[in-house]
Amino acid sequence: MKSVRDIRQLLGAQLRDIYSAEHQLVKALPRMAKKASHPNLAQAFKNHLRETEGHVARLDEIGLELELRLKGKRCVAMAGLIEEGKEVIAGEDSGYDTDAQLIAAAQRVEHYEISAYGTARTLAELLNLGRVAELLRATEDEEAAADDKLTQIANSDLYPSQSDVEVQTQAAAEETDFITVVPPLM
Ligand SMILES: [Fe+2]
Repeated sequence: MKSVRDIRQLLGAQLRDIYSAEHQLVKALPRMAKKASHPNLAQAFKNHLRETEGHVARLDEIGLELELRLKGKRCVAMAGLIEEGKEVIAGEDSGYDTDAQLIAAAQRVEHYEISAYGTARTLAELLNLGRVAELLRATEDEEAAADDKLTQIANSDLYPSQSDVEVQTQAAAEETDFITVVPPLM
C-alpha cells in the first residue's frame, strides 16, 4: 500500500461507506427526535438532521470533484448501530431513562462517524486533495460538536448531579444499617 493509486482507491472505499452511513442516518434521526422526551434532546436530533443533510451534500461535492460514484455500498456498521437504536425506539417506555438510552445510541453513531471522517480526511491530505480534506474536516468538526452537545444534554438535563448521587448512596447505605441479621437457629 504505497502507490497513490492504492491510497486513492482506499479513499474511494471509505467515502462510499460514509455516504451510505449518512443516508441511513438521515432516515433514522427523525424517528429519534420523535421518541425523545426532553425538548433539548429532540431539538439536538432535529439540528443534527439538518447538519447530516449538509454532510450528504458535501459528499456529493467530493464525489463530483474526484469523479467517483459514491452510491451502491451499504455501511453495515451504521446499519447495526441504527438497529440497536431501533430497539430503544420500538420500546413502549419513554421519559428521561429512554432519552439516556437514545443518547448512548446516538453517541456510538457520532464516534463511528468521527473515526470514519478522520480516516478519509487523512487519506485526502496524503493525496494533497486540499478541497476534499477541507470538506471532510468541516463535517468531522460538526460530528464532534454534535457528540459534545449530547454529552452536555446528558449531564445537565438527564443524569443526576454528583451531589444527588452521593445523597442517594448515603441513604441506601443507611437503609442497609436497619437490616437486622437474625442468627441461625442452633
Ligand atoms: Fe454526518
